[in-house]
Formats: sequence, structure tokens, C-alpha cells
Amino acid sequence: MRFYQILPAFAALAVASSTHELQARACTGTISSLSDVAAAVGCTTITINSFTVPAGETFTLALATGTTVNMAGDVTFGEKNWSGPLFMITGKQITFNGNGHTFNGNGPFYWDGQGLNGGVTKPDPMMHVEISGTWSNVKLLNSPARAYSVANTAALVMSDLTIDNSAGDAPNSQSGGKAAGHNTDGFDTSKNDLTIQNSVVMNQDDCLAINKGSNLLFTGNTCSGGHGISVGSISSSVTVSNVTITNNKVTNSMQALRIKTKASASSSTVSGITYSGNTASGITDFGVLIDQSYPSTLGTPGSGVKLSGVTFSGTNTITVNSGADRVAVNCGSGSCTGTWNWSGLKVSGGSAGPINFSGITGFTQ
Ligand SMILES: *[C@@H]1O[C@H](CO)[C@@H](O)[C@H](O)[C@H]1NC(C)=O
Ligand SMILES: *[C@@H]1O[C@H](CO)[C@@H](O)[C@H](O)[C@H]1NC(C)=O
Ligand SMILES: *[C@@H]1O[C@H](CO)[C@@H](O)[C@H](O)[C@H]1NC(C)=O
Ligand SMILES: *[C@@H]1O[C@H](CO)[C@@H](O)[C@H](O)[C@H]1NC(C)=O
Repeated sequence: MRFYQILPAFAALAVASSTHELQARACTGTISSLSDVAAAVGCTTITINSFTVPAGETFTLALATGTTVNMAGDVTFGEKNWSGPLFMITGKQITFNGNGHTFNGNGPFYWDGQGLNGGVTKPDPMMHVEISGTWSNVKLLNSPARAYSVANTAALVMSDLTIDNSAGDAPNSQSGGKAAGHNTDGFDTSKNDLTIQNSVVMNQDDCLAINKGSNLLFTGNTCSGGHGISVGSISSSVTVSNVTITNNKVTNSMQALRIKTKASASSSTVSGITYSGNTASGITDFGVLIDQSYPSTLGTPGSGVKLSGVTFSGTNTITVNSGADRVAVNCGSGSCTGTWNWSGLKVSGGSAGPINFSGITGFTQ
């Protein structure tokens, strides 16, 4: 009897140690409070019911490989002056389906117009996602500061998401007349092989900010109220390559499409950024801004980030407001290289901005 019990246990151990991964048991775990998490995370299937996460605690899911998670209710985070994150998920080959349910960050408690630059300490990011697999049908409401930090361990597809920080557009009693929400980036990404698609971001900062990574696809998304779709800001010793930004719609934002590299950065490379099928309107500052002087805008650029292969193909149609620049390109000395085919870019409205890279073909403003 004993022998037969040991054998399967040994087999399971062998599987676990040969792959160095947590193995899930065939069971369904249910989470209706943080105290349910430890028992639930060993299961192949997890259901999250509606509950409130106590203030000052992170809802952490450290999942076994291959776990499926379904939301069956909304999750609300308690309010506290602390640095978060509010939610953290890790695991491989995960299927996370929000089924349209909401994670509510209770942003209005924190918003003071200062974001991460001072004032109230804000949980940041709201959601730390460190999985491979799929993450879909999730709504985020009112992130205190940045919404998603994505550090996927292998290929991840994020789809049909909503980030609604639109309530942060209005000033409040703490924000001195400015928008109350600040530094509310939609997606901050830093790894390879990530797709973000068919999602809606309403916020007060970058819709997408690619800090690092290769083989990235951003498609079919709608961005409004913020700073547009960004590669960067790029720091030192970083590679970004093979980025496709296609069929997105940007409205009422500072920029439509931007690449920003830090003036102080060195030993970094950004290459192969392709835009197609994007539309934008209600742009207040720049239609397209490629600027190597970040955090300044059109300041003295650095030359430590090599930038090449920026292409506009198909049709990208951008309308900027009067007072905005259509296109501005501010390259460091010798750091923008090659030929950039911009035959697929049309920008109207506003006025022409400065362009100081001579390798652009197929476009005049
Ligand atoms: C939040 O906490 C910080 C210290 O972590 C403190 O300086 C600040 O005054 C607090 N703000 C509020 C509104 O409680
Ligand atoms: C570039 O990225 C796309 C995803 O957008 C991927 O399908 C493709 O294989 C990548 N190309 C290379 C050469 O890795
Ligand atoms: C630029 O790309 C278009 C297609 O998007 C192509 O027709 C054209 O030949 C390219 N121009 C150059 C100079 O490569
Ligand atoms: C672009 O303009 C900036 C600011 O005037 C200057 O510092 C930089 O060297 C210029 N870059 C090129 C490639 O001419």
C-alpha cells in the first residue's frame, strides 16, 4: 500500500524538478478574500469572486504553470497612503479571463495632480503582470498612478482590456486646478514577445510606454486623454527592436505617436519601429514627436541612443489642433541613422515642426 502511494508522489516530484516549475493540481480554487489565496493557487483553475483587498496589502497570485483564472466579480482595493503594487501575478502559460469584471484602484483617494512627483504616496503600479499566456477581458478603474506594468516571462497576449481613468481629467480640491490624475500610464512594458490588442485606455499619461524589448505588437487599441503611444522613455543600455504599432486610434491627446530617448542615455539601440493604419485627432502638442532630449521637449539631444528604421507604411492619418506641431524630429549628432520611409504618413492642421534628420523619405510637411 505504502509503495503505491509513494510512486505517484515521486513521479510528480520528478516532473516538478525537471521543469523547475510549479505544477498545478486538478482542482478549482475559489478566492473570496486574501485568506483564500494560499489554498487556491495550487489548483489548475481559480475563480475570483467579488471582494475588497484590505488597504496596504498586495493581492498576489503566484500561479502554477498552466493555471486558468476566471473572474466572477469585481475586486476593489482599500485606500491607504503606500507604494503598492495593488495586484501582482506571476506564472507561465496562464489564461486569465476577467469576464468583463473590474479591478477598482480607488484613484480619487490618491489623486492630487502630482502623480509620482510628490504629495500622497500612491500605489504604483496598480497591476504588475509577470506571466506568459493570455490576459483578457479585464477592466481597470481609476489607477492611483501607473496602471499596468508588464514584465511577461515569455509570449503574452493582452486583449479586450479597458483602463478607465477618465475621472482623473477633472481637477479636485488637492490638484490646484490641474487634472487630478497624473502619471497614469496605461501600459508600461519592458520584455519581449508582447501583444496588446483591442483595448481602450482613457488616462492622463502615455497610453503605451515601451521601455525595452523586442517583437512587440500594439494593435486595434483606442487611446484618449493622455500623451499618446510612446516608445520610451529610453534609458541607458537598453534595446528596443521590431515594434509594430498598427490600427490604433488616438484622440484628445498631447501627442499621437512619439519616440522619446533620454538626453543622458548611453549604449542603447532603438530599431525597427513600424506604424501603419493609425489615426489620430484632437492632438494638442505634436502629431509625431521623435525627440532625443527627454525629459526636455526639443531641448539639447543626446547621442547615446542609436535610432534606426522608423517607418510609416500603409496609411497613418493624423489631425492636430491649431497651435500644435505636425511633426518634430530632434536627433542627436549622428545617432539617427539609415533611411526612414515615411510615405505612409499624412498629418494635417497646426504648423510644421522642426525636423533635423535628413534620412526621412516620402514625407514633407
Ligand atoms: C503620505 O505618506 C508620506 C510618507 O510616506 C507623508 O509624507 C505624506 O504626508 C502622507 N500623505 C498623506 C496625505 O497622508
Ligand atoms: C517581429 O514581431 C512580430 C510581432 O509583432 C513577430 O510576429 C515577428 O516574428 C517578429 N520578427 C522577428 C524577425 O522576430
Ligand atoms: C516607401 O514605402 C512604400 C510603400 O509603403 C514604397 O512604395 C516605396 O517604394 C518606399 N520608398 C523607398 C524610397 O523605399
Ligand atoms: C538637432 O537640433 C539640436 C538642437 O538644435 C542639435 O543639438 C542637434 O545636434 C541637431 N541634430 C542634428 C542631427 O543636426
